[in-house]
Amino acid sequence: FMNQKQKQDLVGKHILVTAGPTVEALDPMRYLTNHSSGKMGYAIAEVAARRGAKVTLISGPTQLACPIGVKRIAIQSAKEMYEAVLEAFETSDIVIKAAAVADYRPATLNTHKIKKTGDDLTLTLVRNPDILKALGQNKGGRILVGFAAETQNIEEYAKQKIKNKNLDFIVANSLITEGAGFGGDTNIATIIDRLGEVEHLEKMSKTALAQHILDKVVTFLK
Ligand code: CTP
Ligand code: CA
Repeated sequence: FMNQKQKQDLVGKHILVTAGPTVEALDPMRYLTNHSSGKMGYAIAEVAARRGAKVTLISGPTQLACPIGVKRIAIQSAKEMYEAVLEAFETSDIVIKAAAVADYRPATLNTHKIKKTGDDLTLTLVRNPDILKALGQNKGGRILVGFAAETQNIEEYAKQKIKNKNLDFIVANSLITEGAGFGGDTNIATIIDRLGEVEHLEKMSKTALAQHILDKVVTFLK
């Protein structure tokens, strides 16, 4: 239930959060996707609403209920996410991109089921738009926060993504550390900001990490 002592430091701010996987259809029966429960993005949306923000949550398919006080827009593909995000971006002050966006989609969407033929099948994939990079190019005065899921060289790759996408900070987590990443209720994250500050966080609940991320956003608002 509502924490009575919850600070109201996001009143008057519109926060756009993306969460969950994208789903890229191959034919009416098959798709390509990423592992993502959506829990991290939903925790951020929920906590941001409790702290007084107006929250738009653009979400791929998940098993999660829409948090109280949050406006959810359901999408399937990266292209659909891109369009929904660009529209909500106009009025947003803060964007937090926790979604696991598919980098590629099948080059052709078959209207009918693909029948099996030979012993092997080659799929041709094409690049999806980089949503966060497009936002970074039109950032204005907004705060932009990315996520990075890596299996190696976490800090180095995160720093490259901050630069490439014009982010204020990135939340990086290792997918090979126990207690981190998708599916679970906890996360072990490293927050790296555009000024080069690196903060290694201990294992904590996704709700606690959401509070931490929003605290960091507030410092960038000032
Ligand atoms: N992202 C996005 N649009 C994409 C791909 C990624 O907006 N088409 C966002 C993710 O939501 C995340 C951040 O960019 O906040 C980093 O995603 P990640 O997959 O770690 O990085 P990529 O830039 O896709 O690079 P790579 O997968 O090659 O490591
Ligand atoms: Ca990617």
